[in-house]
Amino acid sequence: MAEGNRVIRGISELYTPFERFENAAMVVGQPAATTTTGPRTAGSGTAANGIDEVEVGEQVVWVGPERELPPEHKGLPGLNLGGRGVLPGFVDSHNHLIWAGSRVEEFVRRSAGADYEEILAAGGGIMATVRDTRAASEARLTAVARRRVGAFLRGGVTTLEIKSGYGLDTENELKMLRVARRLQSEGPQRVTTTLLAHVPDPDVDRDAYVERFVSETIPEAARLRLADTVDVFCDRQAFDLPEARRILEAGLAAGLQITAHAEQLSHTGVALLIAELHGLSADHLEQATAEDFAALAAAGAVATILPGAAVGLGLPLPPASLTRPSGVRVAIASDHNPGSSPHYGLLPSMQLATALGGYTVEEALIGASAHAADALGQPTWGRLAPGSPADYLVVDGPAAMLPLYSWGHSRLHEMVIGGHSVWRRDG
Ligand code: NIG
Ligand code: FE
Repeated sequence: MAEGNRVIRGISELYTPFERFENAAMVVGQPAATTTTGPRTAGSGTAANGIDEVEVGEQVVWVGPERELPPEHKGLPGLNLGGRGVLPGFVDSHNHLIWAGSRVEEFVRRSAGADYEEILAAGGGIMATVRDTRAASEARLTAVARRRVGAFLRGGVTTLEIKSGYGLDTENELKMLRVARRLQSEGPQRVTTTLLAHVPDPDVDRDAYVERFVSETIPEAARLRLADTVDVFCDRQAFDLPEARRILEAGLAAGLQITAHAEQLSHTGVALLIAELHGLSADHLEQATAEDFAALAAAGAVATILPGAAVGLGLPLPPASLTRPSGVRVAIASDHNPGSSPHYGLLPSMQLATALGGYTVEEALIGASAHAADALGQPTWGRLAPGSPADYLVVDGPAAMLPLYSWGHSRLHEMVIGGHSVWRRDG
């Protein structure tokens, strides 16, 4: 037993994928084994691009009913939560929080009937954010993104994926990724980074744009270790399926993990491509079919639903009645972005998934923790099991699911990341 282990008692209810304990205790302490993010080598066990070792802080050593606490842990120092619930820290596996400018006016216009895709076709929407993000300095982008990370922390998110995608050219995509890596190094949240091929640059010949993205942007992001994953938005007004294949294959060739914005506004077949290429996840999936979910399940890829974007654009989110029979692991993410989903934290996404998607509250929690961690290629994160990072939320009441039940009023009492308290509510 390492020095510094502590036992946390007085947990009235603890929900963690995939167990629930009443009158629980948890032993937290010794540093978790280092885990890896950053470029991986497709195929071989040797890292061509090097691998970033990330210290994850303290880990969960033991969890279970307090009466079953093993004798070797009984004498440990610790604390008593006095009958509060505990949940795993939420994991947001799809997030675009680095952006400049404002799309509030677009939001107001869309509420009065203006169409998201027509706004994009007219050079607004995503392209408006591209102009503002290109114009913003790295320091300015870091400052606004840091504030957004703070809002996610207050909303219970201990781990988040951060995408580029509003730069389009190599220089501006790398600028966004440097901001994401900066936020990762500042902590306290865990961060993974994703290079997103969002839309072709309308000012550049289309074939030349894709060629440059695969021959320059992706290799540079990998060489500089700025991206863990490559993502592509495959849809009308974005990349077509052959272009998405080129981009994803270039990502794999650079030793990066892959994912896609899939089957959102139209059905393109990119979910099947993710299954074929054994990507981490296919995300959105509003237009996905039973065949798509079955293929993702068979390939071991995660199906990530983004209720904020579905509801924000008036699309039905993929219902549990469609995903559940396939056996696919469903993750739930915020898709925080300035257009379709200006949501902060993950509770709104979980609440929409249960209210409108037919997901159970437990499925929503698992989707925003363990399955989301799986979608980031971090299968020990997002759960409170021995060996997992000690990232958890103390609930302001005895029922662990209270925060998912209470819309618009935080019932989170404290956030702990890697065994260290990040914030605690007074009183
Ligand atoms: O995930 N689907 C494409 N991209 C983003 C929206 C980006 C925006 O509107 O700025 C999404 O929903
Ligand atoms: Fe997205």
